[in-house]
Amino acid sequence: MAVTVNGRRYREPAPDRLLLSDFLRHRLGLTGTHVGCEHGVCGSCTVHLDGAAVRSCLLLAAQADGTELRTVEGLADGDRLHPLQEAFREHFALQCGFCTPGILMAAVDFLAHNPTPTRREVAEMLSGHLCRCTGYAPIIDAIAAAAEVGAE
Ligand code: FES
Ligand code: FES
Repeated sequence: MAVTVNGRRYREPAPDRLLLSDFLRHRLGLTGTHVGCEHGVCGSCTVHLDGAAVRSCLLLAAQADGTELRTVEGLADGDRLHPLQEAFREHFALQCGFCTPGILMAAVDFLAHNPTPTRREVAEMLSGHLCRCTGYAPIIDAIAAAAEVGAE
């Protein structure tokens, strides 16, 4: 299959049953995309496919053939963190970091559609993500702060 990930073209064989999450991690070495439940529940595997947030554990790699993907590795601009990453760092929202890549990718998509969300809307978006460190409050603070500085 041929796919563009974070602006780079890849041409890799993908067996029919290979999940997109496994393709990204094991074939392309992009291990920032985390796999928790593999059932579409926890959100840690969230990436962007043609600009929309998707659960990569619910897609086959073959379904992404010909698309443009963005993973958490594509958020920072060189050494410059994405404003959402910066906000997570400033608000102590990183914790163990396992769920963070999926939340970041979902939040980027969320803010693109709703640049001035209320805290309740941020919390609703976050309800689609399970964080085992359970510190949701700083994550809401970080996303709200990023919205204030116009992060997308
Ligand atoms: S690993 Fe995909 S939603 Fe949990
Ligand atoms: S930060 Fe640890 S699971 Fe969410």
